[in-house]
Formats: sequence, C-alpha cells, structure tokens
Amino acid sequence: MYPRSPLASIQKFHQELVALRQDLHAHPELGFQELRTSGIVAGALEALGVEVHRGIGKTGVVGVIRGQRHDSGLSVGLRADMDALPIKEEGNAAYCSTVPGLMHACGHDGHTTVLLGAAKYLMQHRHFNGTAVLIFQPAEEGLGGAQAMVEDGLFERFPCDSIYALHNWPALPAGTIGINPGPMMAASDRWEVTIEGRGGHGAHPYQTIDPIVVAAQIITALQTIVSRNVHPVESAVISVGHIQAGSAKAPSVIPGRALLVGTVRTFSDEVQQVVESRMRALIASVAQAFGATAELKYHRSYPATINSAKQANFVADVATDLFGAEHVVRDLIPSMGSEDFSYMLRKRPGAYFRLGQGGAEQGRLLHNANFDFNDAVIPVGSAMFAALVERSMPLEK
Ligand code: NI
Repeated sequence: MYPRSPLASIQKFHQELVALRQDLHAHPELGFQELRTSGIVAGALEALGVEVHRGIGKTGVVGVIRGQRHDSGLSVGLRADMDALPIKEEGNAAYCSTVPGLMHACGHDGHTTVLLGAAKYLMQHRHFNGTAVLIFQPAEEGLGGAQAMVEDGLFERFPCDSIYALHNWPALPAGTIGINPGPMMAASDRWEVTIEGRGGHGAHPYQTIDPIVVAAQIITALQTIVSRNVHPVESAVISVGHIQAGSAKAPSVIPGRALLVGTVRTFSDEVQQVVESRMRALIASVAQAFGATAELKYHRSYPATINSAKQANFVADVATDLFGAEHVVRDLIPSMGSEDFSYMLRKRPGAYFRLGQGGAEQGRLLHNANFDFNDAVIPVGSAMFAALVERSMPLEK
C-alpha cells in the first residue's frame, strides 16, 4: 500500500484551485497567444518559489522543482496544455468566457490548474529524491505546441527520464483514471484531392470528363483500403469531410474540377504508410481510368499517442493505490482523436491518461459549446501528478 497520499493535502486548497480554474475559464486564449495564461502560470509558480523558465515553444512555461534530495539524478516531466478553442460558449456559468468566440471547450483550463495544484503540493513537501519538471505547453489544438517545445530544446534543457500527461474525459465517471498500455490516441492526417476533368453542358455529358462522377468513384474506392488492405486486427479511419464541385445555381453545368478533403486516423506508422500509399495508387488510377487527372496532397499532422507499457502500468498502479481498483480502468479503448503530447512521447518514455469527469450523458462533451471542466476532480488529477513524482523518485528506498 502506498504509504502517503497527496490527496488529503491537496483537498485543503481545493477552493483556491477552483477559483484559479474559473478565472482561466473566463479568459480563454488561442494557441501561441496564451500571454495572460502563461503569465498567471509563471506568477503562480514564482509565488510558490518554483524555478521558472518562460518562452519555451513561444508561450510555453517550464517550472523546475527539486526534491528534498536530488542525488538520485532522476527527473520526471509532467505536462499540461493551456490553450482554448474558437467556439462561442453557450453555457451560463458565472465565469463564462469573456472573450467573444473563444472558450475553454476542451478543459485545458482544468489541466493547467491540476498541474499548478501538483506544483503547490510538491513545493510544500518536496518528498522525493530527484527533479520534477512541470511543462505548461501552448497550442495543443492543432498548432503543435508540444512539438514547438521539443524543437526549442525542452528535453535537452530539462532532462526527463519519464513524462506524464492527463486529459479530462467526460465519458468516464468523475474521479476515475483510465489508461491503456499502448495506443491512447490516433495519428491525425489531413488530405486533399483535386480532380481535373473537362467541364461542359449537363445535357451533353459525352463531350465532357465529369469530375463529379470521378469523385464518386474515388470515394467508393477509398472504402476498400480499410476493409481490404489494412490488417483486420489493426485500426484505421478514412473519412471524406468535404466535397466541392460546380454550383447549386447551375444544375445544367458539368464543372471542370472537383475537390475532396478528408482525414485519416491510424495508430501505427506501418498502417499510416499503407493507407497513404494505397490512397495515392487508387486516386491516380481511378482518375486515369475515366480520362481525368487527380492529385493527392497528404499532410501528416500529430503522430499517434502511444503509451510506454511500463509507465502506463505504473500510472494504473499508482491510481489503484490512491483511489482503489474500482476507480481505475486499465484497458481503456483508445480514441481516434489526436493529441500532440505524442511528440513528447516520441522522445521520452511515458504515459498519457484520462481523468474521468462525467457529464457525457448530459452532453457536456469535449469541443462542445456547453462544455465545462468539472472542478470536483481537480484534486484527483493533482494527486495523481504528485504521486507519480513521489513514487518515481522515492525519498526512502
Ligand atoms: Ni484537449
């Protein structure tokens, strides 16, 4: 049994953390524009006496806390994201967004607060032998803030033997920790196909090369990649999210060009490669078969978020000790969403876990205009981060 739990200590300043979270919620900022937020984070860390480094990955902040001893030479990184989304808030909380068109619809206000709560506890106790590196990253929502911090020398300047991050999860009951010792989130790729045919009169299609018919054939052919080319035990998604051709005001005009835009989600480099290469072959050859041409632009965005088994099992063990096995899901089904902590996990062993917060049944879903982070679970998240530090680098052996 774990000899000490940080939870009771952190609950003593729960209300202070709630006030902080609600203030962050009222003042959302987009990726790489988190000037107010990063200022509050840096100020809070400095007030605690934490060594603070700013401007890593533009608006990123790093706090360094040394334990009562640090002769173990060990260090553990903890990451929280800080950015908001361009969504107009529809909730009616007193601390609703004060910025038109922006809101914390993914709970990063909660993640930032959770890590500041861990910082306060760790500074009060320093009950570990090593160094805790607190990573407050910008721009998780599509702009790759984690990659920006890595490229800015994050792990060279602040070595980490292992790294951890959490994300709130409305589909899990409040206070439940969910994890999987492997894939957690998918790689997210964006693709675009421009089909060039020959336009003409809708009454004389024999004189044209109809790019809409070619687009329809390509869309159908793409469905065979997951069913016929990807191993049945592996996972992949290919979705067309946008089609554009012709004009609704010109029903008798066959356009010269059609555009398809979509996404691909995969959990492994090998499957990602199979999907991309099959898309290239099918799109080019289907277009050619109809006398058209088609060009595929394929853009790889965030890689898959894959936990290291050792660190993932460690998270599950720590959570079990802190909260009991009934509050831990060890084999959580991965999400086909994506997450840029993956860039950090490609550099260091670590794990990304879910902090259950409930609310999915009431429609409080991530990226929804009615979303709001559940303040009740702040101490649970902070205690997890703190315990991961204390147990990775124990003071007494
Ligand atoms: Ni998020």
